[in-house]
Amino acid sequence: MLNFNYYNPVRIVFGRDTINQLAELVPTNKPVMVVYGGGSIKRNGVYEQVMTALSGYRVSEFGGIEPNPRYETCMQAVAKGRQEGAGFLLGVGGGSVLDATKFIAAAIPFEGHDPWDMVVGKVPVTGALPLGCVLTLPATGSEMNINSVISRTSTKQKVPFKSEHLFPQFSILDPATSFSLPMRQLANGVVDTFVHVCEQYLTYEVNAPLQHRQAEAILLTLIEEAPKLQNEPDNYEVRANLMWCATQALNYNLACGVPTDWATHAIGHELTALFGLDHARALAIVLPALLRYKCRQKADMLVRYGREVWGLTAQTSEAVIDQAIEKTTAFFESLGIPTRLSDYQIQQQDCKEIVDRFEQRPAKVGEHQDIGAPEVAAILALAE
Ligand code: NZQ
Ligand code: ZN
Repeated sequence: MLNFNYYNPVRIVFGRDTINQLAELVPTNKPVMVVYGGGSIKRNGVYEQVMTALSGYRVSEFGGIEPNPRYETCMQAVAKGRQEGAGFLLGVGGGSVLDATKFIAAAIPFEGHDPWDMVVGKVPVTGALPLGCVLTLPATGSEMNINSVISRTSTKQKVPFKSEHLFPQFSILDPATSFSLPMRQLANGVVDTFVHVCEQYLTYEVNAPLQHRQAEAILLTLIEEAPKLQNEPDNYEVRANLMWCATQALNYNLACGVPTDWATHAIGHELTALFGLDHARALAIVLPALLRYKCRQKADMLVRYGREVWGLTAQTSEAVIDQAIEKTTAFFESLGIPTRLSDYQIQQQDCKEIVDRFEQRPAKVGEHQDIGAPEVAAILALAE
């Protein structure tokens, strides 16, 4: 096992009818700004629950954060928060709202020239307003981690950044909030969660059986529960299990002591930035191609994955690996998520800009830091 240093102070309040606990979690002595998206929380009753819990607080709000949150929109929220003297931010929504809330929290007290400099790593995040979350879409794990991914329309960039200042103080996870999600978003959430696990699991063996089994536990639960979304749409337990899987998949517990990959996410972000694909849909294209491309380097873990997660019994490693990748693809497609660039009419020549962007990156990606521009081109060719 590799050395590690793990810290995660996020309080998780999980379960039905837990939004009313906001009144015990949000500090009373500061103006609170509630940040939300395009209006789903107004249609499903979450907004009302939040505002009822915060009655008696000094509350302002900023709505209109879009999926793949835009810097330009976040900066409007920063201006509003500064003007109103916001002292605590409450993000209510999916990963996009939570990520935006983190950026806004860092940007409000930022004294430099442009908060975008924090996103691209030109300057460090040295502080942020305290924040909390009410999660309504199980997928990203943003509710229990320090990441935020912000997009900039003018330059077609989508850039992740992170800082320990961005840990939420708490996150409320009421699985019933997910009942109003369309199947497309539920499926996206399952695939995003699945890929988060794979990127911390399908690397190389370092003798970490506990982490491997924790990863397998999440994958097996997803495979068992996801089909029930269609067959048992009213089943609360299914929603609860999937929500907890999503949080566990990216609170970095799985990454303790093991190498991590993240190349699928790096390439996927570029697909989203350039072609507007949903985050999970971009990942579903890249992961199978990347696993095929890296099947020799990842052979030990791919064989383990095939046998432990998919129950494959083929004799040779090659056969198990082939079948495991096929099973992965079939699982994504069973949820209505395509796995090929051609499913979106994206041609190889359209991807040249992605390859060029990897050419300009200072560092390569992947668990061996050996995926640069030519490798990205080869992976995208396999995803055609
Ligand atoms: O904007 P509203 O009206 O709220 O509608 C949203 C949005 O249209 C809707 N929605 C959310 N909860 C709902 C609901 N609709 C009905 N009922 C509900 N309960 O769903 C749509 C998608 O929401 P979004 O937040 O964009 O989805 P998701 O949670 O998948 O977040 C994706 C973003 O998170 C980033 C992605 O890159 C992308 O920008 N990620 C963040 C990570 C992190 N912070 O650690 C890691 C991930 O790998 C990912 O990169
Ligand atoms: Zn993701």
